[in-house]
Amino acid sequence: MKKKFQILFLFLFVGCSLCMAKKISVVYPRVEMQENPLGIDLKNPHFSWQLASDVKDVKQIGYEIQLAADLRDLKRGDNLIWKSGLVQSDKMQIEYEGLPMQSCEEYYWRVRVQTNHGMSSWSAIQRFSTGMLHAEDWHAEWIGENAMSNSGESQTELHTRLAARYLRKDFQASSHIDRATLYISGLGYYQAFLNGKSVSEDLLTPSITFYSETVYYNTYDVTDLLQEGDNALGVILGNGRYFWVRGSGMEGFGLPRLLAQLEIEYTDGSKKIIASDETWKVTSKGPIVANNEFDGEEYDMKKELPGWNLSGYDDSTWKNVDIMSVPCKRLLAQPSPSVAIMERIHPSSVTRLASGKVLIDMGQNMVGRLKASFKGKAGQKVVMRFAEIINPDSTLYVANLRSAKATDIFTPSVDGYFSWAPVFVYHGFRYVEIDGVEGDPDIKDFVGEVMYDRMQQTGHFETSDFIINQIFKNAYWGIRGNYHNMPTDCPQRDERHGWLGDRATGCWGESFVFDNALLYRKWLQDIEESQREDGVISAVSPRFWTIYAGDVTWPSVYILAAEMLYRHYGDATAIVKHYDSMKRWVEYIYKNSMKDGLVVRDEWGDWCMPPEAPELIHSQDPMRKTDGAILGSTTFYGLLYKMIDFARISGHSEDIDNYKTHAEALKKAYNKRFFNYETAQYGNNSVTGNLLSLRYGLVPDGYEKRVFNNVVEKTEKDCKGHVSTGVVGIQHLMRGLTEHGREDLAYKIVTNTDYPSWGYMIEKGATTIWELWNGDTAAPDMNSANHVMLLGDLLIWYYENLAGIKNSKESVGFRHIEMKPCFPDGLDYVNASYQSVSGKIVSNWTRTEGRFSWNVTIPANCSATLYIPLSLHPEKPEMAKAHSIQCEGDNWIIELGSGNYCFKSDM
Ligand code: BGC
Repeated sequence: MKKKFQILFLFLFVGCSLCMAKKISVVYPRVEMQENPLGIDLKNPHFSWQLASDVKDVKQIGYEIQLAADLRDLKRGDNLIWKSGLVQSDKMQIEYEGLPMQSCEEYYWRVRVQTNHGMSSWSAIQRFSTGMLHAEDWHAEWIGENAMSNSGESQTELHTRLAARYLRKDFQASSHIDRATLYISGLGYYQAFLNGKSVSEDLLTPSITFYSETVYYNTYDVTDLLQEGDNALGVILGNGRYFWVRGSGMEGFGLPRLLAQLEIEYTDGSKKIIASDETWKVTSKGPIVANNEFDGEEYDMKKELPGWNLSGYDDSTWKNVDIMSVPCKRLLAQPSPSVAIMERIHPSSVTRLASGKVLIDMGQNMVGRLKASFKGKAGQKVVMRFAEIINPDSTLYVANLRSAKATDIFTPSVDGYFSWAPVFVYHGFRYVEIDGVEGDPDIKDFVGEVMYDRMQQTGHFETSDFIINQIFKNAYWGIRGNYHNMPTDCPQRDERHGWLGDRATGCWGESFVFDNALLYRKWLQDIEESQREDGVISAVSPRFWTIYAGDVTWPSVYILAAEMLYRHYGDATAIVKHYDSMKRWVEYIYKNSMKDGLVVRDEWGDWCMPPEAPELIHSQDPMRKTDGAILGSTTFYGLLYKMIDFARISGHSEDIDNYKTHAEALKKAYNKRFFNYETAQYGNNSVTGNLLSLRYGLVPDGYEKRVFNNVVEKTEKDCKGHVSTGVVGIQHLMRGLTEHGREDLAYKIVTNTDYPSWGYMIEKGATTIWELWNGDTAAPDMNSANHVMLLGDLLIWYYENLAGIKNSKESVGFRHIEMKPCFPDGLDYVNASYQSVSGKIVSNWTRTEGRFSWNVTIPANCSATLYIPLSLHPEKPEMAKAHSIQCEGDNWIIELGSGNYCFKSDM
């Protein structure tokens, strides 16, 4: 029989789809998204791929990559810029090693692999292009309007108003156009048109950065939009976070500005460049009269500029642009995906209230914008206000938005029907209250456009338990809604920042559900850019709020997310790139945050733990709170061991002894100060304190069991089987309980529906995850309905412990998978899949009516160790293709290569 295997997909850093095994090619939509990346400005990009096969136990033995600047050359295998030759290796992520690539060029490449079942055919050819590799490649200047020239424009303490800037340029193109590429950045945001058509479906570009350090540009292939003869480029500039979102309090950078370079290549090899310069025109008297991320967008139809982005428009009343200062130290190709509309939903209800206003319920707390079609009257403002929650009298509950007005306004210039969505804002909302519309609005008139960074969903998860499933769904909506060029804390109030502590462990769980690698890699760069000379990093990144607290728990994500990228995505670049800066941060902590051998500086405590009174945001009860020195010292101890790994990975073994010495001294000082050898308790015996000490390995030998018993006793007796932890403790709770044999207690915690629990939020109608366990009763000052930090390690637990999809200890990129689900009483089945960087992993188990079955899929070039309890599978499993089957303790332990497997048994 002819054995079939093919390279299923490969991607340039994260993806280009390739030659597919027919049967499964359709299950990888994420590859399409990363196909043909444009404007890469890395000198040594990575090439990667996966294998798919319908035979078992496929292993890659070698690979061969070819790359050329011309498609025909590549097909012929001629004039190759890189030919790796057949390299003996099982790696599926390879760094470019060919001749230096040129700026603004297109390249074509393909790969084939040798396996234990023979050689694959060549993958489908993939295209990508390079961006501006050298500063001299830019001929454009930053342009804009260097004044606040409209009467309504203002910067007050709490709100700012600035109209959008419209910029345009007419130009000619000759015939025989081969390729046209637009390299563009516009701050805060831009929307670009060529001959009246938008150049992309990306929104809110470029990705947010701390602009005075780094600004990103985007690259678009606009060949199809360009025409022979007259053309026009038009760009609208929005404020984003470049222009002050608040008059004070949130750092701003200046007035909006544009940089654009259109490169037209003709078939005869000649080139024409249209660059932003003093010949462009600008006006700020267009229809977008104000736009502010927190407050909303205002559109005045009578100010429309019909045809402004087409050639031949009369712009004689427009101003000549001002040349603006260069806004940044570094101008780089945007390394992560842009925001886009990722889903469209209709409301669950639209009601005309007695007040005459219309109330829209999306049925889901979502993040994005409302596209509304409505009947309006000339000059009558249509005012749309957004909120997550409504009051019992159907008015909006907006107190938790703080100073964010979250209001979009459209003013018709004539009577009639209109369809409108704002361009430069997004909101976190479930409800919209609309004033000023006529007639009978209907559900189909409104579309909730769900916006977040383009990325594929990688994980699916379903069980027999409604609450577990609904928590997953809430998490799914919350996580994606908070992916906005950075993982934000929340999407609705006047904050929306990349708070470091919120994602320390969360990023691992999220990566089972979304392909978030590029987002986190970009965010680590933001974090590094927040670092001060002395090594301290800001608790918020990009540092729009620059907070140098000198604590450990919030910044820990710098190291933890880099580790996640390495372990889950097989991508060590973040570790290597940031090692020096991480080391400087560690040294800062040694010097500035420690006393008597302990990390004593702590800023936030075990943030948002369940408080003693329903209206409280933070507990005041010292018996509930965990000492900051416990939080800081345990976390730092764990991080020092990660730095030891990072030192190895990045070639800095000389640092290892130093980290070890510090870690050992810390452990000693810590136990001396906080451990009670008689009671086996840390500090005030909080669950968080005991759990952190246990999970980070600080407990003196022989005391582990007793410390764990204290965690259990406190949880069962004092908390009646409920959480008592905040953001720090929750990162360890579910795995901690399970690793020590109390998966039943973890299962109780996850299925609870009374306070405090995730299930309680659901009982109270939450469709996302709340910021506070008591989000329904607490004061509004800090009470968002869409934070994800309280998920802690829950999603990791879902995948690793309920489904049994876990990267083995030494494995990177799921090349070896530990499949050891726990089977809590009460749960009948789990169906989970995860599109890992090495391929799709599936684990579906069922245990009902005396029958047990388990279907697993292990991707090609991967292997797995499976654990099946004897209680579920009393007979020895018969597996002709297993590498080995042994009985150890209460389990069958089965070693498997790639493929689909099914285990069935009567219990
Ligand atoms: C944010 C949190 C953040 C915290 C730190 C809050 O305002 O929303 O998510 O971690 O501040 O103190």
